[in-house]
Amino acid sequence: MSINDQLAFVVRNDAATSADPVVAAEQATLIEPLARPLSGVVRVPGDKSISHRSVLFSAMAEGASHVSGVLDSADVRSSIGAVRALGAEVNLEKRPDGSLAGDIRGWGGLGPSQPEGAIDCGNSGTTVRLLMGVLASWDITVELTGDDSLRRRPMRRIAAPLELMGARFAPEGATTLPLSITGTRGLAAISYDSPVASAQLKTAILLAGIFASGTTSVHEPAPSRNHTELMLPGFGVDVEAAPGEASVAGGQSLHACDVDVPGDPSSAAFMACAAALRPDSTIDIENVSLNEARIGFARVLERMGADITLKPTGSAGEEPCGTISVSYVEHLRSCEVVGREIASLVDEIPVLALVAAHAEGTTVFHEVGELRVKETDRLAAILEGLSKLGVRAWAEGDDLHIEGKPGLVVPEGLVFDSLGDHRLAMTWSLVGFTGAHPVSIRDFEAVRVSYPGFRADIERLAK
Ligand code: S3P
Repeated sequence: MSINDQLAFVVRNDAATSADPVVAAEQATLIEPLARPLSGVVRVPGDKSISHRSVLFSAMAEGASHVSGVLDSADVRSSIGAVRALGAEVNLEKRPDGSLAGDIRGWGGLGPSQPEGAIDCGNSGTTVRLLMGVLASWDITVELTGDDSLRRRPMRRIAAPLELMGARFAPEGATTLPLSITGTRGLAAISYDSPVASAQLKTAILLAGIFASGTTSVHEPAPSRNHTELMLPGFGVDVEAAPGEASVAGGQSLHACDVDVPGDPSSAAFMACAAALRPDSTIDIENVSLNEARIGFARVLERMGADITLKPTGSAGEEPCGTISVSYVEHLRSCEVVGREIASLVDEIPVLALVAAHAEGTTVFHEVGELRVKETDRLAAILEGLSKLGVRAWAEGDDLHIEGKPGLVVPEGLVFDSLGDHRLAMTWSLVGFTGAHPVSIRDFEAVRVSYPGFRADIERLAK
């Protein structure tokens, strides 16, 4: 089977298993304490956000783009499956380091073709939300759906601005998947005050804006990740951007471009936190995107007193990259994380909450309401997981408070449920990997969404 057949197979297969949470939830994986401290060098897989964009922007472009370092995970396969269904030619190969590389020939000026059935975006919010922006400017009707988790997540935040531009959604006023979008060649530009700091929302609007008449702009309550603004100029699209602001003039088009995807800071955060929690560890995480909009977790670990340094070594396209070095220190202290910082570490809050559980004093993450609408209600999951550890944590409005316990010894025989959420699976596994007793994780396999080799990487560092 060629890699492309395998990808097609796994895309369907992932959709089939993720649709059956009962089977997944009953499988528990035992995570045993690491025999040794973490030490040495690791390269985490390609950045998930940049990988999605490399696939989607290449699919929109005229000509064949070459992509490399692309994350091979269930979420990115959802984007690959989606653009294939819409007529892009995707020829990617698995490289020895586990990444995907190869060519993607886009539909360019011809536009996407009418897919045969609904597009199943699996667990991937980025795939479905960005796709709405992609489809808004073409005269086709496409039905979009996803797994149980994605079908619970809010979609109105994307549909509302795209409707203002001229796209239509059915059923009318739909707030969740499945829904269908009918685009139009006659989109009108908008100036949009976004109610949330969301890069998915900003990107969907900008992608539609490329084909609208007039200049489309988005203003955010706090700056969200800016990979779209950094990548689009490489595809020949001019974008004006400043933190919390972005605009694009209509009437432009995308042209093929080469994209090299750097390592994912969100995946690196799990390795960094593992080293911060396991005594005597010292690790270097190489070739990670050091984009300021993504490394809020490192800034917070620094403020907590962790020994963490970021060394820039170069760039991948417009993304700065480098090495993150972390060594264990005995004493960590609490800190305050303000609302404006949240977007720069939103996916890392579960694992930072676990570190805060070991720190002296009460850590507060302000304005984290968005956690309630991630792959699961992560706010509720953090509170429940920390209570199993015997750590006091509570929500006051949208603020999360964690009263740390230095020297925390967790009870034996703990069982956590990932609830099918990759970041919760990795977070709770660190309780077992870095602690004194094994823990069981239900549906640990959820890690396939963003970091399939997570367990192998962490165990290799402790050999
Ligand atoms: C992403 C943006 C963030 C993040 C998600 C990936 C992206 O979501 O949580 O994992 O690639 O644009 P929001 O846009 O909902 O904040």
